[in-house]
This record gives sequence, structure tokens and C-alpha cells, in this order.
Amino acid sequence: MASDSKAQRLRQLQAESKSGGGEAAIEAQHARGKKTARERLGMLLDEGSFQEVDAFVTHRSHEFGMDERVTLGDGVVTGYGTIGGRLVYAYAQDFTVMGGSLGEAHAAKIVKVYDLAMKMGAPVIGLNDSGGARIQEGILALAGYGDIFLKNSLASGVIPQISVIMGPCAGGAVYSPALTDFTVMVEGTSHMFITGPKVVKSVTHEEVTFDELGGAAVHASQSGVAHFTAKDEQAALDLVRRLVGYLPQNNLEDPPLVTSKDSPVRAEADLDAVIPADSNTPYDVLKVIRDVMDRGSFMEIHSAYAPNMVVGLARLDGRVVGVVANQPNVKAGVLDIDASIKAARFVRFCDAFNIPLVTFVDVPGFMPGTAQEHGGIIREGAKLIYAYCEATVPKLTVVLRKAYGGAYIVMSSKHVRGDYNVAWPSAEFAVMGPEGAVNVIHRKEIEESADPEATRARRLAEYRERFANPYEAASRGLVDAVIEPSRTRPVLINALQMLQSKRDSVPSKKHGNMPL
Ligand code: HXC
Repeated sequence: MASDSKAQRLRQLQAESKSGGGEAAIEAQHARGKKTARERLGMLLDEGSFQEVDAFVTHRSHEFGMDERVTLGDGVVTGYGTIGGRLVYAYAQDFTVMGGSLGEAHAAKIVKVYDLAMKMGAPVIGLNDSGGARIQEGILALAGYGDIFLKNSLASGVIPQISVIMGPCAGGAVYSPALTDFTVMVEGTSHMFITGPKVVKSVTHEEVTFDELGGAAVHASQSGVAHFTAKDEQAALDLVRRLVGYLPQNNLEDPPLVTSKDSPVRAEADLDAVIPADSNTPYDVLKVIRDVMDRGSFMEIHSAYAPNMVVGLARLDGRVVGVVANQPNVKAGVLDIDASIKAARFVRFCDAFNIPLVTFVDVPGFMPGTAQEHGGIIREGAKLIYAYCEATVPKLTVVLRKAYGGAYIVMSSKHVRGDYNVAWPSAEFAVMGPEGAVNVIHRKEIEESADPEATRARRLAEYRERFANPYEAASRGLVDAVIEPSRTRPVLINALQMLQSKRDSVPSKKHGNMPL
């Protein structure tokens, strides 16, 4: 009897409520410029490819009037489909059902999708739009988050994980996206914070709006929590589709190879003139990256955060590479705390997923000063050293101009297992820049000289001749070649081909103790 009535109830629910929380809730969702969970999955996945699982799952709570609030699917649509013909798993929280809040059954559905994705070795994409832990379900809702965090952590480095924030994401719920590889936020309609503005006001007396506290712009530029922002939901989901095209299905596969329309032997004459005559004059490293990589293939990541460091995915003759580059146009390309963290995380992502690294170096050093020292530049800078040292994917390095001090070592030098390191004729390898160095080693002589300016100029010229060129490094084998800038693309493509069979490893261990 009992099972009959349950079956009847589910059939009735199916007949009544095919679309989440009902027409009024859907209208409200649309009025906010937001799509429903199913509409979003339709936009994300190849047309007609979505296969839903667990559509009949309902919550199991009987308290606080929950018996009256049973909906099919329990506020999250889960399943699988394809992007560009390749399998992905996905879940989309349904804000029209109790604000997309996460209860026991809702969480179990997400966990199931993770288990399937791990077995099949395919990415998981989560579309988040939720009021957080479902208050009526108490500890079972919290437990559900715990189960998801565990899956996020165990899947890390095994399958790519992408989170799209398409509404509220509050409380501990923010930690699931934070544990995934990439977070995309929709401008204007998405927010992430540990506690909202009201709680902030009562605890710290700060007055702050939703956007100021946890909007897309803040997380893209200040906290670094968001890797990407998009102007609307369509743009966010299009971006995810593009991103997936660069990623392997899992850590045992290579990223997808495409046939490049760009010539592998294209020389780029512009590059011979890109470095200004004065070595302290800035220039845009993005131009170098775009000229070297397959035309139109560079997808910048974290572009608004620590813009003195550029990271992103691109293709070289159709092969996916991870690009890391100092940006001389911003703070002279200096390595500071945020730049180190940004690049370290990206290097580790690429290493986990078999994506070769191409590093463009023009770095005056680590950023000095109390703000950086007290903020932990020692610990944070060490993250980048650790990430490069540990990485076993092919590592190609081009020194464009400055490679000074500790920053020379960290930026994929031979010492941190760079495989193929080349320098442009404009490269400078030194402990520090000429002005600083001459002031240290010739200060007394300059001060005591009859003509201090002439002595300084002579010593600077000597220093530049000795260190501000790539030939000492080349004569020691610390760069493999000095190349014409215009030939960088064919040279890198050739080296990347050579490195296809690279095998390298780290000593066997449980895991290292990265300076977190
Ligand atoms: C149950 C919830 C809910 C929740 C929203 N709803 N959040 N139900 N549990 N956490 C329900 C509302 O009751 C309402 O139901 C419907 O969703 C829509 O919510 P509204 O408040 O009407 O919408 P809006 O004005 O847009 O506000 C959205 C919101 C707000 C900002 C998300 O609802 C809100 O502040 N919710 C609480 C957020 C929160 O503090 N969550 C707990 C975080 S702690 P009806 O029936 O009226 O349509 C957490 C711990 C995780 O998540 C721990 C992990 C370790």
C-alpha cells in the first residue's frame, strides 16, 4: 500500500510540477534576469545532449512544514551531456525550489554526479544558485555540504571542476566553488560571501552593499576568488564551453589537440621591435603572447587580479599550453604576493592536467617593502617556487628582458627544471638591476670620485656589458639558445614537439608540504 501511494504521489508531482518551483517562482527568476536550472543546462551543453538523473528524488524531511513542500528533484537538476561532443557531468541548483537551498537529498544528487564523473573520468560543471544550507534540514544540510567538499577535494587533480555562480552563494557554500579549479561569476546577479551585509553590519558595524561585499568585480579583482566574470548568463556559459575545449577529460589524458589554421613557421617581425631601447620602459606582454600563440587562441585567466602577472591557456600549433608571463606594463612586472599566488595556482593546475607550460620572463624581482614583507611575500613567493619545482610537464621558458634575482630562478629557470630555456638578445640576467648594483658595489668609489656622475656612468656601462645580456647565461648552458624574437613561435613549436615524450617525476611521498 505504502509503496503504491508513494508511486502515485510521484506520478502526480511529475504531472503537476515539471518545471521546478512553479510558474510564479519561474517568473520571478526571469524577472531578475536569471534563467531556470534546466534552461541553463540547455545553454551549457550541446543541444539535446542533456540526460537527467535522479529526477524523482525528493527530500526526506517532515519538520517545519516540509511535507507540504515536496518537489521532484529537490531543487537541483543533475545529469550529464556533452560539450563539443565530449562528456561532462553537470548540476544546476534550482532557485525556484526553496531558493535552491541544499538539503540531504539535494546534496546526495550532487555527490552521485561526482561519483559518476570520477569513475568515467570526465569534468564536473556546477551551476550554483542557492540560499545555502536548507535551514529546515539542520545538520543533514550541513552534512551534505561536508560530503560535497570531500568529493571536491578528492576529485581535485583527477577531473577538471568548474563552478559557475549564477545567484547567491553564501556561508560555507562558497567553499565548494573555492575547492574547484575555476570559478566564473555572472556580473550583477551573483554574489559570494561567508556572511551577507546584514551580519557584517551587526558584527563589524561596516555598511556594505551585496556587490561591494561579494560581487563579481570584487572577487575578480581584489580577492581573486573568481577566475572569470561574464556580463550575463549566456556569456558565462559560453565561456565555460570555450574553457572546456582546452582541458583534458581527466589527469590521465592529454588536452584535446586541434588542427591549427595558423602556420607553425610563422615569423613575427613586430617582435624584433617590441622591447623598448630603455630597459625601464614598459611594454605589453599580451602582444608578445598573442603574436607567438596560434592566432586568437589565448584565453586569459584571472585577468583582473594581479595584472602584473598574466596567466592563461592557449594553443601552439594546435597543442594546448599554459602561459605564464610577467607583465611589464603593470608595476614593471614585479613579483608580489598576489602575482605569486595567481601563477602558483595556475602552474599546479597545468601540471595536474598534463598541460605544458610556456613562461615569458621580464621581471625586476620580488616586490620590496613592509606591506609585502608583513603580508608574507616570503611564504607566498615560496608557493610559486614550489609549484615550478614540482611541475613535471614540459616547461619552456623565454627570457624577454629582465631576469633578476630570485625572480630569475622562480620563473621556470633551468634550476627549477625548465626543459627548454631560450633568451632574446635583450635579455638581462643579474642579481639586480644596474642602478641598484652599482650603488652597492661602487658607492664609495662614486662618492669619493672627483666626477661622481662620470664614474657612475662608467661603472653602469661596465655592469651592463657584463650582465645585461644573455651571453653569460648561454655560455654556461643556463639558456639553451639566444633566439631572434621574430622566430619565437617556430622555435617553441619545435621544442614542444621535441618534449612530447617527456617523462619526469617527484620522489615518492604521501604529499609534499607546500608553504600554504
Ligand atoms: C531554506 C531558503 C533558504 C535556506 C532561501 N530559502 N534560503 N529555505 N533554507 N537557506 C527560501 C526562502 O524561504 C524563500 O522561500 C525562497 O527560498 C526564496 O528566498 P527569498 O528570501 O524570498 O529570496 P531573495 O529575497 O532573493 O533572497 C535570497 C537569499 C535569502 C539572499 C538567498 O533567501 C537568504 O539570505 N537566505 C538565507 C541565506 C543563508 O544565510 N543561508 C545559510 C548560509 S550558511 P519561499 O517559500 O518564501 O519562496 C550555510 C552553511 C553551509 O550555507 C555550511 C557548509 C559547511
